[in-house]
Amino acid sequence: MKLEIWTEKYRPTKLDDVVNQTHVVSRLKAWVKKGSIPHMLFAGPAGVGKTTLALALAQEIFGENWKKNFQETNASDERGINVVRGRIKDFARIKSIGADFKIVFLDESDALTKEAQQALRRTIEKFSGSCRFILSCNYSNKIIDPIQSRMSVFRFKRISEKDVGVYVDRIAKGEGLTVDADAKKAICDISEGDLRQATNLLQSCSTFGKITKESIYDASSQSKPEDIKNMINNAINGNFPDARKQLYELLIIQGLSGEDVIKGIHRELYSLSLPDEKKINLVEQIGEFEYRLNQGGSPEIQLEALLAQFMKYGK
Ligand SMILES: Nc1ncnc2c1ncn2[C@@H]1O[C@H](COP(=O)(O)OP(=O)(O)OP(=O)(O)O)[C@@H](O)[C@H]1O
Ligand SMILES: [Mg+2]
Repeated sequence: MKLEIWTEKYRPTKLDDVVNQTHVVSRLKAWVKKGSIPHMLFAGPAGVGKTTLALALAQEIFGENWKKNFQETNASDERGINVVRGRIKDFARIKSIGADFKIVFLDESDALTKEAQQALRRTIEKFSGSCRFILSCNYSNKIIDPIQSRMSVFRFKRISEKDVGVYVDRIAKGEGLTVDADAKKAICDISEGDLRQATNLLQSCSTFGKITKESIYDASSQSKPEDIKNMINNAINGNFPDARKQLYELLIIQGLSGEDVIKGIHRELYSLSLPDEKKINLVEQIGEFEYRLNQGGSPEIQLEALLAQFMKYGK
């Protein structure tokens, strides 16, 4: 059996197969029709289609020869901006094939220092005649204005629950998997609109054939919402021994990390039947205890102490 990575296997090669991000897709399609594109900045969270759209765009514009006219470089390459500039220069020097420009795609542009970005700006200017630049980043406010003002800026959104469902169905059909509604909901909740994570979750459960909510949560190293909810409710209702027992079950038997548990608690907080004022106090506590965990506090002690806060505010 060939080992295939589903994030590559199911990465769309056509703009039409990209889910969501319609505000970006429609403008890219118009440019493909015209046969020319501007420099672009793709900003947004991980796994929502920035690289995918750049690749699909190149394939539609250049057709068969797209690989010769497209270069993907990681801007945060540890060997530094000079290596990046050298690579771009070598690439730009060779004539493009069947088109009058090439595309340079720079991933993680926001990891560059201000000085490196200035150098990049000069590179962009120098090669504008023969190259279009597409910069990808998580935070556009980390990109200096002189670069932003030379680019069409696109903001990518997290993928909606409905569209995560569409994508999961596409993979399930391709792989002959059964994914029930609860499992789909679990994938949406865990991935939070990140399709790379959604795809990886599916692949890691795929040996089960029939995919359930349980298998998804097992594979994700995340706590099941109802386990967390039961634990918190026990604390709120003053049943501390049971809350504590459930905490140990999560940490020791399910093997979750303290950070996983606290993230789960935070996720459930707003659905508890408590007055808003108490929730505000509790979110402050969650912040404090998360900080202590990050500073190396023991998960058992810190989370027990957090549960004690839930008991205090519950009463
Ligand atoms: N809008 C989308 N439509 C279809 N597939 C998508 C979409 N967004 C992400 N994916 C899928 O998720 C995976 C990761 O997507 P991609 O590489 O485009 O993410 P990215 O936005 O560039 O993330 P990062 O910021 O981490 O580089 C790929 O397998 C891709 O097929
Ligand atoms: Mg990417």
